[in-house]
Amino acid sequence: MTEPFAERVSKAEANPIFEVIKKARDLKAQGKPVLRFDVGETDFPTPENVKAAAKKALDENFTYYTPAEGIKELRQAIAEKLGKANDIPASWEEVMATVGGKQALFNATQALLQEGDECVLGLPYWVSHLEQIKLASATPVLVQTDERFKLRAEDMEEALTPRTKMVILSSPSNPTGAVMDEKDLKRVAALAVERNFWLVSDEVYEPFVFDGKKHFSPASFGAEVRAHTITVNAFSKTYAMTGWRLGYAHAPKEVIKRMAYVQGHSTSHPDSLAQKAGLEALRGPQDSVKEMVRVFEERRNALVARLKKLPGFKVVNPEGAFYAFPDVRGCFGGKVRSGLELANYLVDQALVTVVPGEACGSKNHVRLCYATPVSVIHEAMDRVEKALKEL
Ligand SMILES: Cc1ncc(COP(=O)(O)O)c(C=O)c1O
Repeated sequence: MTEPFAERVSKAEANPIFEVIKKARDLKAQGKPVLRFDVGETDFPTPENVKAAAKKALDENFTYYTPAEGIKELRQAIAEKLGKANDIPASWEEVMATVGGKQALFNATQALLQEGDECVLGLPYWVSHLEQIKLASATPVLVQTDERFKLRAEDMEEALTPRTKMVILSSPSNPTGAVMDEKDLKRVAALAVERNFWLVSDEVYEPFVFDGKKHFSPASFGAEVRAHTITVNAFSKTYAMTGWRLGYAHAPKEVIKRMAYVQGHSTSHPDSLAQKAGLEALRGPQDSVKEMVRVFEERRNALVARLKKLPGFKVVNPEGAFYAFPDVRGCFGGKVRSGLELANYLVDQALVTVVPGEACGSKNHVRLCYATPVSVIHEAMDRVEKALKEL
């Protein structure tokens, strides 16, 4: 056997984040007080009413296969939510429930991309956006974001070619927290119509927008744009449900049909209990979401204030999501020369984990997820400050 692996996976690259996480786990297992700023999930619990809905569904034996697109009630609730919260007039048949936001993206890339196609992605990127383009045998075309990490429509336009089949937007962004400006979103959406490509709008951090900024969904910009747009969202971040694996997509009916084909023949459908929980999350009270976002804005403020004072760090105030993405080139020299080396240094010397920017396409940055109480943020920054002085 000379070629044991399929070409699509033989190109798979080890995610640099795992090295740091493994080190953190080992140190934690040795009883060391490691403070984690790497994983991208909130520390809030899933709301009680959502958990109760899943328990009830379990007691009622709602434990069997569901349609590939999810149960009709949930699809209807998602369609209603899109109408009310995102100004997207949606019918339940244009919506499907998915196994996390990630599978909504996977369904879309598998259904719409193939060899020879190009897919435009902002740099820095979320690693799964990049890898899913490659898994679909298409070619990623990276477009550098501006100094505030905003993807500018004119830069994206320059990257378009006759082969461009898709553009993936992440706003609010993982890893940078940048929120795209309405005018850029509108121009990108207009280009999707003019140049006939699919626009995938990843909105999983939708509620996490700060400083009174507003989130916009491109699919709300009219029927023509909607005919080219796949809107992706999830319960994971908004309702603190990362482990439940529930997300959703909105797209033209014909696209949903093809995406359901991919899902139906891979994971079948999202977990039946999670679907009932998701229904309650959408239909029940939304106070927990508002409270979580308020707390995250406080945390953002606390972390950014500290990062600004760190020697060698340059930070852009992130307007959304729950990440900061400082430029750490000022720390490079003797002991560290890259984000990865700095991340390793901080685990070793400060017992603080951050994601090396290499995982997002930049060796000059690190990513910090601030899903942790303000007191922990201060303790971690005290340790990082001390470690940096010894660099
Ligand atoms: C930008 C972005 N999109 C999608 C996802 C996937 O979310 P889920 O856990 O619902 O699959 C993530 C998770 O980190 C993300 O950061």
